[in-house]
Amino acid sequence: TSDQYLRGVKVLVTAGGTRERLDPVRYLTNDSSGKMGTALANAAAAAGAKVTLITTAHQVTLPAVEVEKVETAEQMNAEVQARFDQTDIVLMAAAVADYRPREVASSKLKKTGDQGLTLDLVQNPDILAALGASKTHQFVAGFAAETNDLLQNAQAKLARKQADMLIANRVGKGLGFNRDDNAVTLLQPGQAPIELAQAPKLELAQQILRRIQEVRA
Ligand code: C5P
Repeated sequence: TSDQYLRGVKVLVTAGGTRERLDPVRYLTNDSSGKMGTALANAAAAAGAKVTLITTAHQVTLPAVEVEKVETAEQMNAEVQARFDQTDIVLMAAAVADYRPREVASSKLKKTGDQGLTLDLVQNPDILAALGASKTHQFVAGFAAETNDLLQNAQAKLARKQADMLIANRVGKGLGFNRDDNAVTLLQPGQAPIELAQAPKLELAQQILRRIQEVRA
């Protein structure tokens, strides 16, 4: 039926904010809840896709989805890379930390004296950019969560990461992260932006996936 518009399509989704460890009990992270990625995984599975969700959100179990739990950007990168060849559509909904501590302390860091503390951070791999640069048959989509200059920043990201679609959403001040609804703009190379009005994340996920399948067909 037309409701099974992704029958047999292999979809890989990432979700949540990565956690970059400082020591056994502390990490750096961000406000991403994993809800948009989880909605995409659910919507793709409902449309007949074979779905893998790589997520940092620990409570997630989805009946029709293979769920792989990860913590760091490096772990997420390894899981994505291992599956990329056998994937048709990748949706990078995760908020991947740009930086991680250079070293992870093996025991809890101790406070020393009255001084402040400077963290030494190194850059994480840009998973989406690597996929964009190496894709063959895959459709690669990313997200751009921006507090300002949303469309300019998202257009720049679309080009820089060689993505087939960038899904732009405004965050901050009660928008975007950790909410059940969202409003997004779909950007594609050489196409006019498509605005999707505010709606529950599951509904937006269906609209995004239908658009991707139209473009691929
Ligand atoms: O550059 P920025 O982090 O804003 O780009 C967001 C998009 O890039 C998201 O799709 C995110 O999943 C992806 N990303 C990534 N690896 C990174 C940083 C971001 O895949 N290190």
